[in-house]
Amino acid sequence: MNFVTHLECSLTGKHYPAAQVHGLSEAGRPLLVRYDLEKIAQHTDRDAWRHSKLPGFWRYLELLPLLQHNDLPELGEVITPLLSMKQRHGAHVLIKDEGRLPTASFKARGLGMAVAMAQQLGIDKLAMPSNGNAGAALAAYGQRAGLQTLVYCPADTPEINIKETRLCGAEVALIDGFIDDCGRLLKTRMQEEGWFDVSTLKEPYRLEGKKTMGIELAEQLDWELPEVIFYPTGGGTGLIGMWKAFAELKAMGWLKDQPLPRMVAVQASGCAPMVRAYENGDEFAQRWEDAHTVAAGIRVPAAVGDFLILRAVRESNGTAIAVDDDAIRDAWVAAAQHEGLLMCPEGAATYAAYLQLLEQGWLSRDARVVLFNCASGHKYPLPESS
Ligand SMILES: Cc1ncc(COP(=O)(O)O)c(C=O)c1O
Repeated sequence: MNFVTHLECSLTGKHYPAAQVHGLSEAGRPLLVRYDLEKIAQHTDRDAWRHSKLPGFWRYLELLPLLQHNDLPELGEVITPLLSMKQRHGAHVLIKDEGRLPTASFKARGLGMAVAMAQQLGIDKLAMPSNGNAGAALAAYGQRAGLQTLVYCPADTPEINIKETRLCGAEVALIDGFIDDCGRLLKTRMQEEGWFDVSTLKEPYRLEGKKTMGIELAEQLDWELPEVIFYPTGGGTGLIGMWKAFAELKAMGWLKDQPLPRMVAVQASGCAPMVRAYENGDEFAQRWEDAHTVAAGIRVPAAVGDFLILRAVRESNGTAIAVDDDAIRDAWVAAAQHEGLLMCPEGAATYAAYLQLLEQGWLSRDARVVLFNCASGHKYPLPESS
């Protein structure tokens, strides 16, 4: 059932052996898992996934790195719904509501996979910095698998995230700084105490978990992808992962013959390193100083996968756009008041970006669009109604 051939450095292309513990490549860049796609296409009936006994994202076994599929750290994963914004926009604007997953965010996908792989490779102490949702997912899946977890969070991380992470058994330290400051401080402790680093893109398997958003979307839409995807971009794992999934599905001939979706990286104007790099035509992004936004999950001043985010945006003929906190709040309120959808602020940022690009004429009113709402609105202090 495992079709992994090797891992590959995302910058240099150097190969690394499968089924071993890996962090970053020797070049200090993310490693990508590669599969024998031809063999998968020959041996797999894509429509059989719908009848799998495994829940949610676990069922895409052939395109996952799992070494075995018994005793997975399951927490009731579901296929997340696609909801139309029909009151205001009609049936062609869909929200993929990731808030329905365990721990109420899409971080369940990446951390579920990273924890399962750690368990299967014999690692038992996992650590990472987090803006909140990722730490909570690591703690929950770690506890489920009987592993120790350690999370460093910025001191102003939403309180619910800190509490849920602690309650699920992780040791949490609050740091006066941003997520990358947390990562730097944590690194010393990880080396001294033998913790394994599961930071965004610093091990290869969270990306494979996040990739399932793309497979799931294709399956739900009967293998006909939308024209545009809006993704709230911090470390960018989801955007990079979906782009990887689309490339894999296309190589296997499983997608309808049409251009791949244009990928839109949405950031907050108080923290928009990818937008700045995109606009400057840079391959890598500079760190963003004094980051601030109501959307805590996308307050990421520097990302190790910056060049992969920018590559996906450019290859897909997409764009990168920043929206300010007022626009995020307005979109958050509008989605609730007009559609009954309680988004998270990061998800609301994608809606604000959609409205902005519509106004600028970058896309048409009838374009088939998917916005990612990556967490439940219930995890945040909600805005007042207007
Ligand atoms: C709700 C939410 N949206 C978006 C993001 C950004 O995700 P990524 O790191 O894949 O860019 C996060 C990350 O913490 C998040 O919690």
